[in-house]
Amino acid sequence: MTVIGGGANCEHEVGLASAASVAAALDHDRYVVDCLTIAPDGRWLGSDGSPLASGMAGALDRLAHTDVVFPAVHGPRGEDGTLAALCVLAAVPFVGSGVRSGALAMDKWATKLVAEAVGVRTAGGALVRAGDAPQVELPVVVKPVEAGSSFGVSLVEHAEQLAPALAAALALDDRVLVEPVVHGREVDVAVLRRADGSLLVGPPLEIEVAPGGLFDTTAKYDGSARFVIPAHLSPAELECLTTAATAVFEALGCEGVARVDFFLTADGPVLNEVNTMPGMTRHSQVPRIFAAAGVDYPDLLDLLVSAALA
Ligand code: DAL
Ligand code: MG
Repeated sequence: MTVIGGGANCEHEVGLASAASVAAALDHDRYVVDCLTIAPDGRWLGSDGSPLASGMAGALDRLAHTDVVFPAVHGPRGEDGTLAALCVLAAVPFVGSGVRSGALAMDKWATKLVAEAVGVRTAGGALVRAGDAPQVELPVVVKPVEAGSSFGVSLVEHAEQLAPALAAALALDDRVLVEPVVHGREVDVAVLRRADGSLLVGPPLEIEVAPGGLFDTTAKYDGSARFVIPAHLSPAELECLTTAATAVFEALGCEGVARVDFFLTADGPVLNEVNTMPGMTRHSQVPRIFAAAGVDYPDLLDLLVSAALA
């Protein structure tokens, strides 16, 4: 098995942590684990951390000669279907979503269109490109269409904050979303497709951010946010969230595991985004969600690998 980590994007460090954690926790009696890392500049590094002598061709050759690939890379040029495409071309099974679903879910605008088409509410908002002067009613959230871990995301409450927010988002993507602020509890739902095709939905996780705070890049990784698993939900709320998460997972055609993130408002769930390669360290949301359901981390990894090989 080959675990790929890192990634040529702003979530590189998260991809390193996910891959290291996955490689260490896989059952080494069952799997012979080899690691490849994508450096921030896009070079492929071997398990000793040095660049592969034969570069991309060497990486493709390594993938073509392994039995299964576990791509633990988040964000563009990884989670967006590109690594899946490489595995498809190398004719090797891989963990997680395929080319189309990875690409669709990475695109937060496309995700909205798909979700709305299957009756799942989203925040709406406008697509903005460089040079546009959007007329917006504040407050809004500005975010790159394709990015992760909240990089390039800003809350805009005052008019003078809009231009810098757009610039920060446009630095990461040439398309930017300007969305109305959704007031609600942040609740994540993990959906996993087992080897037999059936879905396993974990107990929803609520993110409790420090008062007045945001679940932004800092709060995501400084340990200040608290996860409540299972989230305290009424049976009706649980049902709505589960139905919405599985509807979006199926509409996008996801495989492996996806974390479907919602705002739970007084009027029900509003989809925020779908992560087709969510953070996968032992302490990330998805492993903690399944651990709360009795599926410990190595068993979760086994479920994912078994599904890839099915
Ligand atoms: N984009 C980060 C890795 C997450 O979804 O957990
Ligand atoms: Mg994300």
